[in-house]
Amino acid sequence: MSSRLDDARPQPHMLPAPPTAPVLPVARTEQAGTPHYRPAIHYTARDTWLNDPNGLVFYRGQYHLYYQNNPHGNVWGNMSWGHAISEDLVHWTEQPVAIACDAEEDVYSGSIVVDHANTSGFGTANNPPLVAIYTSAFKDGTPYAGTQAQSLAYSSDAGMTWTKFSGNPVLTRGSANFRDPKVFSHSGPNGQEWVMAAVEAGEQKVVFYRSANLRDWTFASEFGPANALGGEWECPDLFPLPVDGDPARIKWVLVVNLNPGAVAGGSGGQYFVGDFDGATFTPDPSCLLEDPVDGAAALKPDGSAVDRDRLRQCSWLDWGRDYYAAVSFSNVPDGRRLMIGWINNWDYANSLPTSPWRSGMSLVREVSLETVDGRPRLVQTPVLPAAVSGNRHAMEPGGLSAEVKLPEAIPGTAQLIDAELLPGTARQFGFRLFQAADGGAAAVLTYDAAAGLLTLDRREGGITEFHPEFPSAESAPVALDSGVLALRIVVDHCSVEVFAQGGKVVLTDLVFPAPGSVGTAVFADGGTAVIRRLEVSAVS
Ligand code: FRU
Repeated sequence: MSSRLDDARPQPHMLPAPPTAPVLPVARTEQAGTPHYRPAIHYTARDTWLNDPNGLVFYRGQYHLYYQNNPHGNVWGNMSWGHAISEDLVHWTEQPVAIACDAEEDVYSGSIVVDHANTSGFGTANNPPLVAIYTSAFKDGTPYAGTQAQSLAYSSDAGMTWTKFSGNPVLTRGSANFRDPKVFSHSGPNGQEWVMAAVEAGEQKVVFYRSANLRDWTFASEFGPANALGGEWECPDLFPLPVDGDPARIKWVLVVNLNPGAVAGGSGGQYFVGDFDGATFTPDPSCLLEDPVDGAAALKPDGSAVDRDRLRQCSWLDWGRDYYAAVSFSNVPDGRRLMIGWINNWDYANSLPTSPWRSGMSLVREVSLETVDGRPRLVQTPVLPAAVSGNRHAMEPGGLSAEVKLPEAIPGTAQLIDAELLPGTARQFGFRLFQAADGGAAAVLTYDAAAGLLTLDRREGGITEFHPEFPSAESAPVALDSGVLALRIVVDHCSVEVFAQGGKVVLTDLVFPAPGSVGTAVFADGGTAVIRRLEVSAVS
């Protein structure tokens, strides 16, 4: 199970005591590093490492993004909660480290709730506390050494500073792999209760607990193993959504991140749709495979190849290589469900060719449930900057039988492409992104109408040698909608996020273009495709 993990990052449960001072030689100026890969509208820490989003919460006009952070270096280690805030969910401002590791523990992933009724007693009626529920990964020589358990920290200043609870940990199972608590408030037969979804990562189980005060927890139920099982289950989330916008038809979505064993290889997120009664999650039979799939095994025990087709039948948040540990914000107004993921993959995470920072977040995605092929599926819409319409170019509709460059006035390094295309007689059509000046190397997004597959191929898309697992091509099944393929593509210096058919299918990949590869082209091969609409805008 661990064979695909990046060597530099041991599985959390196998961690030795983290080195006391693994301070890396981090460059302090942007010029000294890779400023050309610094995204315009994706969050990166200034000069340190980050992984999972943690404690996503809206409070008093601000969105808070906490995250797994190494405050002392740009590879995984010294796990603490970094912090950034935003008012528009696009532009983030880094804040001081919020919850730091110490001699006893590393601070692993978790969530934050607004304790409006001060059930925890950490605040007052007039100033309710924010409460963080995080995983303590206990270090050697401490009473809980070798185990992971759930702990609390609280803030009385709207999330800017945090105090660890003196009674930590609040929930133990004596387990080395019990982590990533996602807590939310649930109103059921027992009144208002807190519910925690966490994982027994190695057993591929989500475990549910209930509490009246966030301090005392009672076991409620467990779910799993099911569907994709090729790796550890991590960072769960559970939330309700109306189906097709109908408030009378509420379904619950259980998100389970998985590493490795995801559909594109390595880390990824699957989800289940079902019902939740405050204690037990019951999946709809239509979203369960009869037998789970071990997508991490290159070969199955009988010597045959991984069952890609069955892996594709699981429900995936994203079909690309780089969308992991995705979870949703709490306390968001208007019932909007907003998710964000780590734009990376444990297969090569510690080797990304950026400095002084390493790793970033995806765009925030608003998710909803829509009936597709007779059952509810997650549909995702990216949150974009309000000023996206500033520098815009629309191409003439019509036939496309070769390659056409998009205008250079809009930088191909940070752009939004909105397109509606029809295959016509073309065998394949799509876009070349981050194209070299000579019209050669590029990351290529291709739709093959006969196969019904959308493929993002980054093998010729710039720098790939930094890790043998990085060069790759990812495919997702995408059906035409009344003959049309609708694409929304966000390109941002070192990433491509593709939202197909209004967000029914999403494909996210990192790409590290060679210097000067800033072109974009639309193309058709083997016949004439039809451009019904094609607009490109600069993003910043
Ligand atoms: C997921 C994860 C979590 C854990 C954290 C440690 O990427 O392994 O399960 O809490 O990262 O950084």
